[in-house]
Amino acid sequence: MADNSIEKSSEIYHPSAEVVANANVPEYEQLYQYSCENREQFWAEQADHLRWYKKWDKVLDDSNKPFYKWFTGANFNIVHNAIDRHLEDATRNKLAIIWESEAGAVRSFSYHALNREVSKFANTLKSMGVKKGEVVTIYMPQVPELVFAMLACAKIGAVHSVVYGGFSYEALAARIEDAHSRVLITADGGFRRGKPIDLKSIANEAMKRSPTIEVCITVRNNGLDVEMESERDFWYHDLQSLPVASNKCETEVLDSEDPLFILYTSGTTGKPKGMLHTHAGYAVYTSTTHRCLFDVKPEDRWWCAADPGWITGHSYLVYSPLINGATIVMYEGAPNYPYPNRLWQMVEKYGVNLFYTSPTAIRGLMRFGERWPQRHDLSSLRILGSVGEPINPEAWKWYYEVIGDSKCPIIDTWWQTETGGVMIAPLPITPLKPGSCTKPFFGNEVAVVDDEGNEVPAGEEGKLVIKNPWPGMARTIYGDDERYASLYWGDYGDKEYYKAGDSAKVDEDGYVWVIGRMDEVLKVSGYRLGTAEIESALVSHQAVSEAAAIGLPHEVKGNAIHTYAILRDGLVGDKALEQELKEHVAKELGKIAQPEDVQFVESLPKTRSGKIMRRVLRARALGQDEGDLSTLEE
Ligand code: WTA
Repeated sequence: MADNSIEKSSEIYHPSAEVVANANVPEYEQLYQYSCENREQFWAEQADHLRWYKKWDKVLDDSNKPFYKWFTGANFNIVHNAIDRHLEDATRNKLAIIWESEAGAVRSFSYHALNREVSKFANTLKSMGVKKGEVVTIYMPQVPELVFAMLACAKIGAVHSVVYGGFSYEALAARIEDAHSRVLITADGGFRRGKPIDLKSIANEAMKRSPTIEVCITVRNNGLDVEMESERDFWYHDLQSLPVASNKCETEVLDSEDPLFILYTSGTTGKPKGMLHTHAGYAVYTSTTHRCLFDVKPEDRWWCAADPGWITGHSYLVYSPLINGATIVMYEGAPNYPYPNRLWQMVEKYGVNLFYTSPTAIRGLMRFGERWPQRHDLSSLRILGSVGEPINPEAWKWYYEVIGDSKCPIIDTWWQTETGGVMIAPLPITPLKPGSCTKPFFGNEVAVVDDEGNEVPAGEEGKLVIKNPWPGMARTIYGDDERYASLYWGDYGDKEYYKAGDSAKVDEDGYVWVIGRMDEVLKVSGYRLGTAEIESALVSHQAVSEAAAIGLPHEVKGNAIHTYAILRDGLVGDKALEQELKEHVAKELGKIAQPEDVQFVESLPKTRSGKIMRRVLRARALGQDEGDLSTLEE
């Protein structure tokens, strides 16, 4: 498990003279102070890096807290910034995307070509009647068409809802239902470890449960034979050859606060929350963090090895690097296929300068030893990033020494689906402590507080809060303003703090150490899952009457899922049933949610109000003190 003990962090890593000389932002303290004291001014200056059809009347509208609005009165479109403006200068002929498949196929697109593909896709969507404001669900492998589809929606003012390709039909159907999507974009499938993965049949199962779907567009990728339903299903390549799919499409002039996407994420209940992000604030926030934190230069090759189905992919694979005119490297496949040098081989092959991945990926590759990366010339690397979960100092050092040759700063970025972009992270010039995400990004005041919202002393654990609004923040939970307001805001009287749901410490130097989630959210291999979703998947099996899921430390995954089940009357648990239940959860939710084990129990520890006390289960499993049991029912 992630080891965040402050005691272990006495080592400090200072940036090299070269990193300092290259830095896009040469100084932190003064600019930080300025950005917090003049928040609106600071964000207005950052917004000036972008192209506006019409500038804002007001930078921040906080008249209806916690429903903050940014850059109100402006006209904007994120695609105008991510593509259109690059067509006016030499960036036009620069590579926007280099994509490699697991089998080794390579496809690349200049900004000019990206514009053509996105315009064709956008026209295709229009021909299917897609309107501004409509939510289009996208369920695809990590192929360039996924990026085209997202940008095509944004270009015409439609709202995309990308569902990670590893999710099951139940999860997909629930998200389609919540978003009332009429159009689904999918693919025949992808590849993983040399085997074709069938996505279309999962989409078909989901559509059986989704009465709102009228049109399904399928992109051909792995060539699998798939079932198409006439009048509902269309092959993308057929549509593309129609005259309507011309390569000219005007980008829709939108209001700055028009919705860009919904992204579903797990929370405390079984129902995933659709976090809603808007065009302008999100564009300003993600592109500013990307430029400052990763020192992106026009000539750089940027590789964010996340799936676009998660927020990291949305913000730092697709939108911010394109806004900043970088060249994106994209890979569809397993990181250790056919051998554990796959990522390093690609870094060398494409001359990647900036590389961003998760601690789980690093720990997974670390197991195979140094000899794999050492076969490759990794000298193009300048900056390394980490995201999604705490990085333990051991993995940090391996990443730093073996991958970065002790010359690349490790940018450990703390943030969430809800925050849109990175909230706490070092700049390349920041002295680093392995395992700490260091200091807040410009404009952000963060604190660690107790239940009353009072800051706890340095070194003590408490709840992580953000004391101010920022442009990249989610605007609401789609269709549920009340839940958004109560879940994230307003626990601390008149202090308007954003509650992150993480526990953390701040040390004497003001460095932030994130410990982990406090609520019923699990980070497994960096993926965000809810215990409630896993439990309801278990209970949906006829043999189970009650279930509980917890996370326990795991060497590679950070956390692993362990579950407990009370069986229905008369049933006896055995190995075969355990296996069946594990597979059932994988089928219901997706492979990433498959538990390590299912223990059959007679009862579960509960509070008197009937809530499962997962912390008691966790303490028992770890052989630790069970803590305060005064609310326990038995
Ligand atoms: C965790 C991922 C420690 C945290 C971008 C947060 C981290 C949750 C870090 C959000 C980090 C993310 N150090 N923990 N650098 N980055 N987390 O929505 O618990 O998938 O609340 O967004 O991931 O997960 P999400």
